[in-house]
Amino acid sequence: MNILVTGGTGYIGSHTCVELLNSGHSVIIADNLSNSRIEVISRIKQITGRQIFFYQVDVTDEEAVNSIFSSNRIDGVIHFAGYKSVTESVIKPLEYYFNNIVSTMVLIKLCLNYKVNKFVFSSSATVYGENKVPFVEDMELLPPKNPYGHTKVINEKILTDVAKANPDFSVAILRYFNPIGAHESGLIGESPIGIPNNLMPYITQVAKGKLDKLKIYGNDYPTIDGTGVRDYIHVVDLAKGHVAALEKLKKGVNIYNLGTGKGTSVLQLVHAFEEANHIKIPYEFVARRPGDIAECYADVSRAKRELGWSAERDIIQMCKDAWRFEKNNS
Ligand code: WQD
Repeated sequence: MNILVTGGTGYIGSHTCVELLNSGHSVIIADNLSNSRIEVISRIKQITGRQIFFYQVDVTDEEAVNSIFSSNRIDGVIHFAGYKSVTESVIKPLEYYFNNIVSTMVLIKLCLNYKVNKFVFSSSATVYGENKVPFVEDMELLPPKNPYGHTKVINEKILTDVAKANPDFSVAILRYFNPIGAHESGLIGESPIGIPNNLMPYITQVAKGKLDKLKIYGNDYPTIDGTGVRDYIHVVDLAKGHVAALEKLKKGVNIYNLGTGKGTSVLQLVHAFEEANHIKIPYEFVARRPGDIAECYADVSRAKRELGWSAERDIIQMCKDAWRFEKNNS
């Protein structure tokens, strides 16, 4: 298939392009490079030995995206492009709502116009709010605590309603848990701009000596050791989940959790990183981060049953690959 990947130079997008190409699909990337680097394109080519097409466009720009649809035969769209910082979304809500929702509407409209019937959307476990773990796809969603989370819920709703009204339009909504790690080549990975918000990039920057020590947000949660528990998934497994969702896509709306089904605490992740890479990570406990929940992990049975997909890489692998990328880059 010829797949249009929006946000294809970003962290999850770039790994998904690699897996699509490795599975024999062709890739057209649309990205405005607002939070990524142009070098990612040559790195994807280097890893796969395949050609890709790149358009530097903003996906909210309907005219620009229309010209991609009019000049290429597109079989499906994977829509990653979007702002993704929870804290920034509280400061700039309008930018988040505009960018994340208008881009989806533009893409859906063009898909309907050009009869492109396969649409895969990047959603997030954040839509479950403070439900009881493990999170199951059919749970009633609880209101997210920030504009970023709301944009995911609203996009899911728009896609669901459009699919209901257009029986040929097939949608996969993929709810990601916590992607970490990097491609084993060390050529692509996560490179946040400024001080990282997320745990693994913070750990790798402490390991590199760019940051002093890790601040662990809270050690009084009702969890195994008092620190927050998350379902960390290797980004390459996550990328393969997209290929499976696309290839097995059924009519209507199909929602899948992409996680491992296993919870790991902050302290467990820190210790795994130390063991995997033989580097000490200094840390201190500080107050809980507002908006954080104690535990978040997936029920992954639906993806396994319907897509034949499940995550294969363990936490040690995730820590080794994340560190290899950090060492080789920046
Ligand atoms: C993980 C754990 C923190 C940093 C967020 C978004 C989610 C998705 C991924 C996507 C928590 C603790 C973290 C640090 C720490 N967004 N922590 N010190 O919050 O689960 O998910 O990112 O694009 O929608 O909500 O991920 O990596 O920030 O935190 O102790 O410096 O690490 O409290 O328990 P989170 P995270």
